[in-house]
Amino acid sequence: MAPTHNHIAMIGLGVMGKSLTLNLLDNQFNVAGFDVNSQHLDQTAREAKQLNKGSFTYCDSLAAIIASLSSPRIIALSLPAGNIVDQVITQLLDVGLEPQDIVIDTGNSLWTDTIEREKQYQGKLEFFTTAVSGGEQGARYGAALMASGSQQAWKHIQPMWNAIAAKVDNQGLPVPPQHSGEPCATYTGPTGSGHFVKMVHNGIEYADMQLICEVYHYLRDILKLTSDEIGDIFAQWNQGVLNSYLIEITADILKQKDFASDHALVEMILDKAGQKGTGTWTAINSLEFGCPTPTIAQSVYARSLSSLKSQRTLGAKFLPAETLSSQKLDLTSTINQLHDALYCAKLCAYAQGFDLMRTLSAHKDWTLNFVNIAKGWRAGCIIRATFLQDIANAFTNNPSLENLLFDEHFATELSNRQLNWRHVVANTSLSGIPMPGISSALSYFDSMRCETLPANLLQAQRDYFGSHTYSRIDQPESEKYHVEWSQSPRVEVKR
Ligand code: 6PG
Repeated sequence: MAPTHNHIAMIGLGVMGKSLTLNLLDNQFNVAGFDVNSQHLDQTAREAKQLNKGSFTYCDSLAAIIASLSSPRIIALSLPAGNIVDQVITQLLDVGLEPQDIVIDTGNSLWTDTIEREKQYQGKLEFFTTAVSGGEQGARYGAALMASGSQQAWKHIQPMWNAIAAKVDNQGLPVPPQHSGEPCATYTGPTGSGHFVKMVHNGIEYADMQLICEVYHYLRDILKLTSDEIGDIFAQWNQGVLNSYLIEITADILKQKDFASDHALVEMILDKAGQKGTGTWTAINSLEFGCPTPTIAQSVYARSLSSLKSQRTLGAKFLPAETLSSQKLDLTSTINQLHDALYCAKLCAYAQGFDLMRTLSAHKDWTLNFVNIAKGWRAGCIIRATFLQDIANAFTNNPSLENLLFDEHFATELSNRQLNWRHVVANTSLSGIPMPGISSALSYFDSMRCETLPANLLQAQRDYFGSHTYSRIDQPESEKYHVEWSQSPRVEVKR
């Protein structure tokens, strides 16, 4: 083994770790690799050999990993989120990891765990994180990377991450692998911020996917179109403002024939959605910090509802709907309405996600840069879309923009498209087809444009049963009032 020529080590050579390793090798970096599963290690070594680019050092222990690098060592972990990350770090410390060495967690860890880890390992090692989006293909040929930790560690890591990240051209459009362009490797700030940003990315991903599925449901069950026809519609939409990876793959999926019947494959797939939990984390954080992300939360609930298959099967028998027939819907104009509903709801989901980032950024003093975050999502990641350039423009025009809905470009889009969105929500409700994401987004939009919500009554109710007090619109908000509701005559007192 030549110990000092390696730039980085990768621990964990499953799908993501192996792909990141091969990507680093492609870019002429020398990588040492280890996995407790020797099959993973052997497979990576075999594929590395075929590349004939940077060199791969086969390490059969963590001690060999430590010996394969020179100081400061850079060690990336590609491990499942959870205790295993701490177990491996503890073992690395046992075999000689030093305080100046940098350990990078590239998994989907919960950002609060990341903050705890930084505290736990302070003085023992330099803890850094990089959240990776783009799945296997992204890791292999260009991912979106969200890095956080010390600036000093970032200086060591940045050249490698810039090389393996997806790139965009000067119009913000993704370029093919190995082409030059602006890298989607974003340094988000202090430890924890990168995993937080990735968590919000995933929350938006859940919403994006759910909204597309709702449109598919409408086209399938109200307009009675075939999967093939729906695929054509998404393919066409992918040429316009909705252009995105998720729309593109949806069109492709809908066109796929089943391998064992005459149906489209999608018609043969059981309608129970899985999840690994990052969308749920986003929804929980939004509740904890009082920053509404209803469309993201509804997307998590929609997955849970989908898994209640046996209850839904009963419901289909016992709960017949009284609906209005949608026979008279004009096909072309309804498809246009759905397009605009999808665009507007998508915009609301992103607005919610960015608002959650704004809220946490202020709370944690992270000073997240939303232009860089939006730019970093333009290629490589699952939610990549041309629309992200518009978001980057919105924050470039106004870095302290409170909500994306208030950007001039987006406000104009919403104004032009909202009637179509309302038609869709009304029709879907009258037809008895659920649309939790698109309709929750419309309620979010209408709440955001409603100066006087009925929370005045709610405050009175709280005061009535719990003496929780209220503020008056004709007095400073800080002054609290209470009515002695059970007294006769009732009196209002200042608290
Ligand atoms: C990405 C994805 C990825 C995610 C999986 C599965 O950015 O590459 O967000 O990180 O974990 O797609 O997520 P669910 O199983 O929760 O749908």
